[in-house]
Order: sequence, then structure tokens, then C-alpha cells
Amino acid sequence: MAGACHFSEVFASWPTVCAVGREYQIMVPVRAETLMWAETGGELFYDESNGILRSATGVHRMTVPAELLDREKRYTIHWRKVIERLPYYTKTEDEECASFSFRPVAADASELRLYQIADTHSLIEQPIRAASYWGDRGETLDLLVMNGDTPEDCRSMENIAAPYQVSGTLTKGEIPVVYARGNHDLRGILAEKYAEVTPSCNGLTYYSWRIGSVWGLSLDCAEDKWDQQIEYGNTVCCEAFRRRETAFLRDLAEKGGEEFNAPGVKLKLVLCHIPFSEQFRPPFDIEEDTYREWCRILRTGVKPDLMLSGHNHKCYVTLPGDPMDHKGQPCPLVVGAKPVRGEGVEPHYTGTAIHWKTGRGVEVLFTDDSGAVTGKAFIPEQY
Ligand SMILES: [Fe+2]
Repeated sequence: MAGACHFSEVFASWPTVCAVGREYQIMVPVRAETLMWAETGGELFYDESNGILRSATGVHRMTVPAELLDREKRYTIHWRKVIERLPYYTKTEDEECASFSFRPVAADASELRLYQIADTHSLIEQPIRAASYWGDRGETLDLLVMNGDTPEDCRSMENIAAPYQVSGTLTKGEIPVVYARGNHDLRGILAEKYAEVTPSCNGLTYYSWRIGSVWGLSLDCAEDKWDQQIEYGNTVCCEAFRRRETAFLRDLAEKGGEEFNAPGVKLKLVLCHIPFSEQFRPPFDIEEDTYREWCRILRTGVKPDLMLSGHNHKCYVTLPGDPMDHKGQPCPLVVGAKPVRGEGVEPHYTGTAIHWKTGRGVEVLFTDDSGAVTGKAFIPEQY
């Protein structure tokens, strides 16, 4: 929780603590030009670029080792507002700070409550209400999943910051969050800056992560139509991007002992905004061989327990071999995000509450912004 400092004057939302690799990237969107760094366990972690504290950004990122923050369970954000940045004698305000507690997923956790948000398309209040499901029932939310199309597009910093208002309000910077990019996130003038202002691994939007006993993989199908689609106006090269991601997946499958089969892993999750194991109608029926290969690598190598997706604005569960499995689905798939919006329409939102427990299985609840459960499914552990 926040200390005595007035962090809300500078912060556009509470921090969002994102798992990437074996680190947390503490993301803080700001309203004013600032310098920022984090402290935990007596060590300082700066938002810097080759020794220069960054201020020309709307979202700060402080990268801290997961092991350290998991142990300390507390961090402090420090900042200085920049009055005028100059080559010499830059003018800044006094240093301020705010402290936050952190509740990691335990290394031996055998139970987890998570909530998936996707396809919020810049909605803020409705997904916050929907994702309050566990808290409203006196249960603790352990992990928040932000699975793409959370901004309507990247045409403005306001759009990019909207998902942080959702994740910040829900987590208060106190629990881990995992991200995956959606196709709408590739659109708009700031889309090329996306990896700078969201969790990313050396600039890449696909990566693995580890949170206590949970291993995960954030995948990225990028756009949902071929690069030549006229609406992209010659601005995308997603086909080459997907080729590199296929190579990454093949490489990952060889590293089981350091990754998905590492000691202590009890649950293996795959996030991908687009449920790529399905068949899509034209012009969305792209990369069938690529996605068949992704399914094969996951099914034979990684053997995930559960895949989470959005994109279709529907809520359902499909199992391998079901009619919607067209490419060799690697595991049970939950597609769970449904926004309702439009001119003259009262916005509504449905997301997915998930309860995993070893020895039992996965309970899937689709819950809306009124708190109602609109659908449910149960996936037994032995599946
Ligand atoms: Fe989408």
C-alpha cells in the first residue's frame, strides 16, 4: 500500500508489477515528466537508458529480480518531477517516494485464483468491476492476466495508459500481472513504441515467465490478417515476426529443464490473445501452417496445462479434438472476454475467473460487471 507521499499527483495509476522471464517489470504510467527508480532489499533499480535516467516517457519501467522482490515482499518507488531537462543543470523537484507491499505466488503454491481480462478496448470501469469477482467473494486474487486488445488502439498515450488504470486499480501494485499483446495493440501511431511502454523481454512481446510454482508463456500472433491487407496501409511485417517467434518456440521446447520442466513448476499456462488453434473465416484465415506448427511444438514439447485467449468476444472452453480444434490444440483452451459497447449502448464487460488447485483441476467462471456468473466449466486435473 502507498506510503505518505502524494504519488497520485504524478502517477497516472497504481504500479503494475509484470512478470517477464525471471524478473518483474514494475510499470508506472505518469502524468508529468519524471525521473524514477525502485528500491527493494536495499538495492536500487533505475528506469534508465545506458546510464541516463529516462524522463521522456509516459510509462516508466523498473526491472527487479523476481527472487529479490518475492523475498522482500515490499518495494518503494522514488521519483523526481522534471522542471526542465537541460544539457547542464537540469532542474528537478525534490525526491518523493511511495512504498508498496507485494504478495508473490508462493514457490510451492498448489492453488491459484487468477482473473483474465482481454478485449477491454479501452474500457476501464466495467472490466474493473468484473475482475473484482474474487475479492467481492472474500477470496484473494493471486494473478491478473491482461491478454491483449486492452487498448482500443495505440493512437494515444491515453489509450496506452487505460489498461494500466485497470491493472493498477485491481492490483494496487501488490500482486503479479502477466501481459500478452493483441492485434489492436499493433494499430496507431504509438504502436511502434508498444514494447517500450508495456512489459517486454529485450524488446520482444513473446517470452516465458515464472511466478512461484507457475510457469507461463506469453505468445503473440500479432495482426489477424495478412500483411498486405489494405487497412494496414503497408505498415506491418507480421509474417517475418511470426517466423522469428516459431524459431523462439522451437528453441524453448529444447530448454525444458530451465523452463517448463524446471524444479517446482506445478502449472503451465500459455497466453495468446488469438486462439490460433481455431479455424477463422477469410480474411482472418492466415498462417495455418505456422499455427499448426505452434500447436505441435506446444503439444509435444511444452505440454501446457491450460491456454488462455480472447479476441473472439465470446466465452467458452474447448478441449483437444473438439470441433473447434483445427490445428492440434495442445491443451484445454479458455476463450474468455466479451466487451459490449458501441454508440448508444451501455458498455458491459465479461471476463474470466479461474481457480486452479492441484489434485482437483481448473474451475472456469465467466463473470460480468454486475458480478453475475454468465457461464462456467470445469476441467479435471487428469485431463
Ligand atoms: Fe483481438
